[in-house]
Amino acid sequence: MIYLDSAATTEVFSEVLDALKNIHQEYYANPNSIHPDGQKSRRAVEEVRRFLAHITDAQEEEILFTSCATESNNTVIKGLAEAFPEKNHIIISPIEHKSVLNPVKYLVKKGIKVDFLKVDRNGIVEIDEIQKRITPKHCL
Ligand SMILES: Cc1ncc(COP(=O)(O)O)c(C=O)c1O
Repeated sequence: MIYLDSAATTEVFSEVLDALKNIHQEYYANPNSIHPDGQKSRRAVEEVRRFLAHITDAQEEEILFTSCATESNNTVIKGLAEAFPEKNHIIISPIEHKSVLNPVKYLVKKGIKVDFLKVDRNGIVEIDEIQKRITPKHCL
């Protein structure tokens, strides 16, 4: 059998499992606590944050850790709309995952205007379409 649903979940590399086992056994303490074990966890989290900032050419304070893609998408979509209330337009494709469509639906109730891009039969959006529609009113 060949597993073809890897976009949703996939087998974990053994290197990743080893790293996770180490983290859960050595750095399980709450990184927000002031006790030494918590501070040890905090240092590990900050080391990962520094590494991710480095490889993505971001500032360390721009790296946020979330528990899943749904939380990430909600944080970005609702967060941007709240941070830029004067930019009340969003462009998305109609075939986004529910974790994108649902926070956008929530924002529509709050007055955000949404442009849905056309998508071809392969799920590809026209880049020109985005460029034609984007205005200074768009936050995302
Ligand atoms: C494209 C896409 N976005 C978001 C999600 C939601 O991911 P999570 O379960 O990490 O919230 C999934 C889950 O399969 C997905 O395939």
